[in-house]
Amino acid sequence: MLNSIYLNCFIYFILVFSVQARDLKNVLESKTCFSNYFAFGVATASYQIEGAWNVSGKGESIWDRYTHEHPERVFDHHNGDVADASYYKVKEDVRLLSQLGVGFYRFSISWSRILPDGLSNNVNEDGIRYYKELIDELRKNKITPVATMYHWDLPQSLQDLGGWTNPIIADYFLDYARVLLDNFGDTVQVWLTFNEPLSFCSDGYGGDDAPGGRSSGFEDYMCGHNMLRAHGMVYRMFDQKYRNTTKGIMGVTLNLPWMEPATTSQEDQKAADTARQFMFGWFAHPIFSQDGDYPAVMRSAVDANSKRQGFPRSRLPKFTAEEVKAIRGSYDFMGLNHYTTYLTKQGSRKIKTKPSFDDDMNVRISQKDDWPKSNSTWLRVVPWGFRKSLNWIKANYNNPQILVTENGVSLEPGLHDTKRVNYIDAYLRALHAAIFKDGCRVFGYAYWSLMDNFEWMRGFSERFGLYEVDYKSPNLTRTPRLSAKYFTSVAKTGCLPDDFADYTYKTD
Ligand code: NOJ
Repeated sequence: MLNSIYLNCFIYFILVFSVQARDLKNVLESKTCFSNYFAFGVATASYQIEGAWNVSGKGESIWDRYTHEHPERVFDHHNGDVADASYYKVKEDVRLLSQLGVGFYRFSISWSRILPDGLSNNVNEDGIRYYKELIDELRKNKITPVATMYHWDLPQSLQDLGGWTNPIIADYFLDYARVLLDNFGDTVQVWLTFNEPLSFCSDGYGGDDAPGGRSSGFEDYMCGHNMLRAHGMVYRMFDQKYRNTTKGIMGVTLNLPWMEPATTSQEDQKAADTARQFMFGWFAHPIFSQDGDYPAVMRSAVDANSKRQGFPRSRLPKFTAEEVKAIRGSYDFMGLNHYTTYLTKQGSRKIKTKPSFDDDMNVRISQKDDWPKSNSTWLRVVPWGFRKSLNWIKANYNNPQILVTENGVSLEPGLHDTKRVNYIDAYLRALHAAIFKDGCRVFGYAYWSLMDNFEWMRGFSERFGLYEVDYKSPNLTRTPRLSAKYFTSVAKTGCLPDDFADYTYKTD
């Protein structure tokens, strides 16, 4: 890990140099302003926006296969074959970013567009060209590219070998990362290895998302284990071979919904901490804690349940001492996705014979009826949970540098999205308090998402965009919503405007 002065300088030069010089007068006069060093951006992901699923040499990914083979599992039988057709709209999309005035753009790279078979012996030149064009266009417009190497679209050919459950995947991911760093290392300086391993391991290998493993309590843990090994290996390679020449920084994006005890009882408090450890500590503890390895509560719960279920060994795999060492401290910053909050109660103590992650965690999770709803069943508006999440990370992982890589809300289609303005405003106020009152070290914030896109199993029914996409128009027309206007003002001034929303949500 870099020492923090060195790191601060890096972050200052990489993320901040592109943020427009902000009006000092405005900063001084406004009540809620972020510092000049703070960067605002927006985020997207390859499968959700690119389309062109089988064009110019791109290989099949697990999301291509899954949505084609099981259309009935996705809302309205939709898929990402076309999505927002961003593959054909580099200039148009960068124009949208430029109109927003954002300092950075977080996008992801499709592994099977770069390596159609997942392996590095066959590099698809058109894939390299496409991302080079995007990166160049961003840089021309003074927007810093922030690239995620893996946002869930594994090449199908690797899934055929077991995907993230096969330990060999870590070597293949290392090869893929090398291709990315060799080709884009001179122009991309901010890297994220993975996006939300909790989601792609739990929902993908332990649930209903692609590839549809549905083997909770086994495959999800194998997936997490190999993802952590792969992350450690890529970070070490980056640190040793690429850092000096590329002057880049590397992190990983984890998601932490805030877990609030449902009551003040000791049991519910403990349940909240257990849930945080299972859902976030699973990945954060091996990378960001001082000791490394899995959280103790997870280790002991899965070990004990495995034993009671009659297995000769724990369903949670074990790291070697070298692996613990390689993974521990493998970050320059933490990427954080945060959307919502849950209440926790201790679950029933009965251990089921059929293993599962939920059973191992043994916490009942709910949300309060009076928390404002969004258009996603899992997402309610609870801005104070954001501040609590950031403080919990600060307390538990030695106050790491954080880039908020996603935060956002889904609503019904419509351009006058005051609820979205309220959501962003309230969450940014919570973030402001976390930085300025609590001392959390957050250096940037990305809204999810630039525009409406393919929301995985929910198809196009849940819209998160600052720009509305008209899926009925042949051009997939993008139109700015009121929230785009709001976010432009925030990104350009660094301050939260007073003349927008009726601020109905409290931050503390
Ligand atoms: C997190 C994921 O990274 C992103 O792909 C998804 O669309 C958003 N959350 C909203 O659910």
